[in-house]
Amino acid sequence: MFITWGTPSIVGVAQAMLFSIKPKERRDELYDFEKELEELMKGVERSPITIVIGMRRTGKTSLLKVALNELGNPYIYLDTRFSVNPTYRDFIYIVKESLEDFVRRYKSFREKIVEVLSSVKGVSISIPLSSIDISWRGDNKLEFPELFTALNSIGSELKKSVVVAFDEAQELRKITWIDFVRLFAYIYDNLDYVKIVLTGSEVGLLYKFLRLDSGDSPLYGRYIHIVSTRRLTLEESVDFLEKGFKEIGISINKQIIEEAAKTFGGVIGWLTLFGYNCYTNPDPCSQQIDKVLKIAINIAKNEVENFLRSRRSERYKALLKTLTIERSWSEIKKKLEDIEGRTINDKTLNELLNTLIDLSIVEKKDNKYIIADPITRKAIEEL
Ligand SMILES: Nc1ncnc2c1ncn2[C@@H]1O[C@H](COP(=O)(O)OP(=O)(O)OP(=O)(O)O)[C@@H](O)[C@H]1O
Ligand SMILES: [Mg+2]
Repeated sequence: MFITWGTPSIVGVAQAMLFSIKPKERRDELYDFEKELEELMKGVERSPITIVIGMRRTGKTSLLKVALNELGNPYIYLDTRFSVNPTYRDFIYIVKESLEDFVRRYKSFREKIVEVLSSVKGVSISIPLSSIDISWRGDNKLEFPELFTALNSIGSELKKSVVVAFDEAQELRKITWIDFVRLFAYIYDNLDYVKIVLTGSEVGLLYKFLRLDSGDSPLYGRYIHIVSTRRLTLEESVDFLEKGFKEIGISINKQIIEEAAKTFGGVIGWLTLFGYNCYTNPDPCSQQIDKVLKIAINIAKNEVENFLRSRRSERYKALLKTLTIERSWSEIKKKLEDIEGRTINDKTLNELLNTLIDLSIVEKKDNKYIIADPITRKAIEEL
């Protein structure tokens, strides 16, 4: 095995583009996903609501941010990851910061934005710093339909829709005092100059939150454009790593690249973390596979443990353990019954499995079930 180090010092960590670990923002930082990017941009141009779904670390935020920059529409980006029990204040803070970012980003029509937003009840803007205050209680509290109507008038004036993107939108279900589904339907039907984009890694939860299949949902029957991120194929993983290493001037043995591509299962976030570690650590890159694998397994373990803690049923752990290899429904049932030493009712098993599918932890392909992410599989084996 040989490793030749190039001259990374002249490139500098901040410029490790493909392997930079922050979500990507510019098209030239994005590996491929051209089709997905076009789909997303087409969705935003043509449909009032677009959804980006995909497993964790498959590039949803990157795709979204690049699309927002490429589209050239005014946009507001909200990262809606909350703690377990968010308060009204937590949500308002996200809105406040996103609006401040919005106002600061658009120098050329800032005056217009400030004028319209300051006319919204509950919103006040102090000009020089563009700092925004929002009231959420009392007679002067912000009403969201009014805020979106104001954004619509900004869009209508500019003749360009304002795109409002909620990253990890399934989290909005925790904000139980706002009926987002009704709000989105209102926007869909009435505000031609506002476009909504929602991303979600807990796909089933997002769909349930939007109640897309339910006749009584305000969004029922409306066209919604859906874009999915995906795992890279083995060849693409190899190509991604090769391109990334070439970019930073490091030459790595093909065998190591192939081994890493196999290990990280096409999840671009893990591949990026691997490349980044090879770049920033003096140890040979071959050792980074194990090192990054350990880091990745620990992250995944943490996530699984959080999930298990949040569930009342003790059965999930055993169920997850049976799903580290691909199994049919009846194999799963038999295995779980063997572990527990008692029979399990079909309905219960279906409920448990569906929950795991809703959270995108488990995927079902050709009537077989398996934990989707290979790293999570390894994490569960170690539990
Ligand atoms: N197309 C891409 N090209 C290069 N790097 C990418 C690409 N997509 C994602 N990445 C990298 O992978 C990692 C995960 O990306 P990102 O945060 O966009 O994914 P995500 O699906 O939003 O993840 P999460 O589920 O954690 O929110 C980041 O380090 C990002 O830089
Ligand atoms: Mg994300």
